[in-house]
Amino acid sequence: MADNRRRRSLFHISLLSASLLCLFLSPIPASAQPRKLRFDANGEFKILQVADMHFANGATTRCLNVLPAQMDHCSDLNTTAFLSRLIAAEKPDLIVFTGDNIYGPHVKDPVKSLNAAFAPAIASKTPWVAVLGNHDQESTLSRQELMKHIVTLPYTLSQVNPPEAAHYIDGFGNYNLQVHGAAAAAADSFLQNKSLLNLYFLDSGDYSKVPSIKGYDWIKTSQQLWFNNTSTKNLQREYNAEPNAQEGVAPGLAYFHIPLPEYWTFDSMNATKGDRLEETSSAKTNSGFFTTLVARGDVKGVFVGHDHNNDFCGELKGVNLCYGGVAGYHAYGFTGWPRRARVVVAGLNKNRDGKWGGVKSIRTWKRLDDQDLSRVDAQFLWNNPGN
Ligand SMILES: *[C@@H]1O[C@H](CO)[C@@H](O)[C@H](O)[C@H]1NC(C)=O
Ligand SMILES: *[C@@H]1O[C@H](CO)[C@@H](O)[C@H](O)[C@H]1NC(C)=O
Ligand SMILES: *[C@@H]1O[C@H](CO)[C@@H](O)[C@H](O)[C@H]1NC(C)=O
Ligand SMILES: *[C@@H]1O[C@H](CO)[C@@H](O)[C@H](O)[C@H]1NC(C)=O
Ligand SMILES: *[C@@H]1O[C@H](CO)[C@@H](O)[C@H](O)[C@H]1NC(C)=O
Repeated sequence: MADNRRRRSLFHISLLSASLLCLFLSPIPASAQPRKLRFDANGEFKILQVADMHFANGATTRCLNVLPAQMDHCSDLNTTAFLSRLIAAEKPDLIVFTGDNIYGPHVKDPVKSLNAAFAPAIASKTPWVAVLGNHDQESTLSRQELMKHIVTLPYTLSQVNPPEAAHYIDGFGNYNLQVHGAAAAAADSFLQNKSLLNLYFLDSGDYSKVPSIKGYDWIKTSQQLWFNNTSTKNLQREYNAEPNAQEGVAPGLAYFHIPLPEYWTFDSMNATKGDRLEETSSAKTNSGFFTTLVARGDVKGVFVGHDHNNDFCGELKGVNLCYGGVAGYHAYGFTGWPRRARVVVAGLNKNRDGKWGGVKSIRTWKRLDDQDLSRVDAQFLWNNPGN
């Protein structure tokens, strides 16, 4: 299986080089370079998470688990339409695609499928990022080749891997993004050069490579080392440095595809909001990333996809473990339970003197793909105890 895949991917490398060459020949205009991420003039930063699009070949790719009456007029283009409507309704500051962006086994040309899957984000000129799931690489491109293509697309802030860790980190698509204070007049926004919210994106892999452990992959020790080092040696150091030295550590959010084993801790009764309609398909081993997160203390929310029919958030030891719910129509779903996506908003504290301070709260809700794009399950994930 793996050998066969490698042979096919070698065969297609020439095709990939040809399309990469086209990209180099038509350079991305300067206006398509994503801007630095900042809180807006209202002191807010909004993230739209889109999980499991499972995009394949567009109009010819049929939907799964829709009502019988909907089957005949449903394809990948319904996923595209949903994404466009979400972006228009929410006007996010960042869109995060948490993997299984394309469904490899049914994809004819992965570059075309990726481009089509992300097209609404690119058309909206919204900064966006992607990580990989376990199905993205199941056509002809490897995970590395997929990330190398994704980072060339307009308006993306995705990275193949952080330069300082590229020589030791496992996987492709591990990186950190910083969200700086509002770019208001310096008098109101003395934190415009500080990262007030730190976003971590990780490659949770695909399938275990350890023969005695079956099933899905996990976040490796090398990735945890990179996370901890980035959080302590880079982000906190800058946060605590002059000018405008801040105390403690700025809050963070982590995005990846495969849930941590700790997601098992919640059933529909004790998840704070949302549904559990299926089991948690985490790795069959616990690599300790949750413990690393709790020990470090900055990450307030973890956002995954993978289990399409779960969309809850539950809090464990100060960390919210959230699912995005499924956005894609060529992905299995729960018939009659609309496709959906998760929004997260971080809001800044306004000090007594009217200046924006650090993050005050982190909220979330979901949007359903029904006529009104219903907004459901609004909740606070975190309130800064210092405010
Ligand atoms: C898919 O899109 C078609 C064309 O716009 C529409 O008629 C149909 O109702 C959509 N199906 C679903 C399940 O949303
Ligand atoms: C932030 O950095 C820019 C560019 O270095 C500088 O012009 C500006 O004064 C800085 N703002 C604050 C509040 O320190
Ligand atoms: C995280 O990094 C800090 C500072 O380098 C170190 O003291 C701590 O032991 C690290 N924690 C883990 C779990 O690696
Ligand atoms: C830790 O982070 C610092 C600051 O970004 C960087 O210089 C160093 O190379 C990193 N070390 C590791 C092991 O990633
Ligand atoms: C949720 O309830 C289940 C039993 O119904 C229990 O095993 C689990 O520990 C609970 N989780 C939390 C976070 O309270």
